[in-house]
Amino acid sequence: MNKTFKIIIVIAILISSAMIYINPIASAKEDSNWNKIKQRGEIRVGLSADYAPLEFEKTVHGKTEYAGVDIELAKKIAKDNHLKLKIVNMQFDSLLGALKTGKIDIIISGMTTTPERKKEVDFTEPYMMTNNTMLVKKSEKNQYKSLKDFDGKKIAAQKGTEQEKIAQNEINNGQISSLSRLPDAILALKSGKVVGTVIEKPVAEAYLKQNPELDFADVKFNEEKKPTCIALPKDSPELLKHLNQTIDEVKSKNLIDSYMNKAAEDMQDDGNFFTKYGSFFIKGIKDTILISSIGVILGSILGALIALMKLSKFKPLSWLASIYIEFLRGTPMLVQVFIVFFGTTAALGLDVSALICGTIALVINSSAYIAEIIRAGINAVDKGQTEAARSLGLNYSQTMKFVVMPQAIKNILPALGNEFVTLIKESSIVSTIGVGEIMFNAQVVQGISFDPFTPLLIAAVLYFILTFALSRIMSLVEGRMKASD
Ligand code: ARG
Repeated sequence: MNKTFKIIIVIAILISSAMIYINPIASAKEDSNWNKIKQRGEIRVGLSADYAPLEFEKTVHGKTEYAGVDIELAKKIAKDNHLKLKIVNMQFDSLLGALKTGKIDIIISGMTTTPERKKEVDFTEPYMMTNNTMLVKKSEKNQYKSLKDFDGKKIAAQKGTEQEKIAQNEINNGQISSLSRLPDAILALKSGKVVGTVIEKPVAEAYLKQNPELDFADVKFNEEKKPTCIALPKDSPELLKHLNQTIDEVKSKNLIDSYMNKAAEDMQDDGNFFTKYGSFFIKGIKDTILISSIGVILGSILGALIALMKLSKFKPLSWLASIYIEFLRGTPMLVQVFIVFFGTTAALGLDVSALICGTIALVINSSAYIAEIIRAGINAVDKGQTEAARSLGLNYSQTMKFVVMPQAIKNILPALGNEFVTLIKESSIVSTIGVGEIMFNAQVVQGISFDPFTPLLIAAVLYFILTFALSRIMSLVEGRMKASD
């Protein structure tokens, strides 16, 4: 090979590797969020699907689908940019946190722009303008002729929303109930816990269609129509540009109107409660059983380790175990769930699904309780047993295996059964991060059916069936063990 040829090849390699190297960095500076979305080939849209006609769930042939104006908009954005669409459903007040920690790429959730939110995230151009109203019971409507009539009264609104603020600012001495989910704010009104619910006009109209006992109060808030926009992370010019392109087209072709019509169709009732929503609860039962079983099984393994650590003669190990146990038993599970959920992305940079995060939190939490159960079970075995075994010449692990453990198990098993029962009930907490267990699905059904009460009753019955069946099985097993005594 001649020299110039070699030099040309070397230079070519250098230039091309420099290009590969420089390119991503240069464009990363432009808009790393857009690049990530493009690379993934999928855009993750966060929303709170409790907000018909903007976003809600419906069943088609036993399968659940998201529907509503925001969903249509999300689909169009995905299509316009040749991306797959992933809907991430969570509570409205968790959305901004999820966007900022990178759990989702954008928020399309009927979100109004406000100065406070603008400090945290960027917004696209508006795709809708809305204002707010107050819902009351039809039978009480004539008691409320002006905002003054609500002075000092109990009012509900969805937590973390503009409606919550309006209630706080415009009702003198009002007692505001801020509920995480809109259906709960409606339930509060229907059950008489509050006398009014502040709610966005288009959403109120959807609720009125299904709840003839409710009506608008003849009052006006001191406000103008406010813009509803898509939220995106700050400093994402490319992403913003692409989102605005779609919004421009949607506006120029008046697509929001046709999305509204489609949403109205999707909200139509057909079939009875169980044929329509049964599949939600079945899905919920599966997930509840899955996560709580993994919770006890892995929790027992981890818990046994922690218990052994705590019983260890080596002090630092036993201290470590004590700290672990005390910390987990001394902090609310809800906090632990959120720490795992947001911590995995914010601190560790991992993109872990809600299901896995929820399960991890359950395993960790239950391991602390199980560790104590196991330790107590072992300690409850009479000291004389160990002494006798050791004087018969058995070593430590033989003593544990053949003498202590078989007796300890009898103490441990019933308590472990109780822990399983507790875990089934506690697992409902992971609904807050969007794990599709029973409670989560009950809330979904509240949202789609506009019936806030029945789904809760069904959830209660399902939890009861699960826990009752489990405790029956446990007492059978205990009975067997007694017989073998
Ligand atoms: N527009 C109101 C806000 O931004 C409420 C939006 C609630 N959205 C929902 N999907 N629940 O505060």
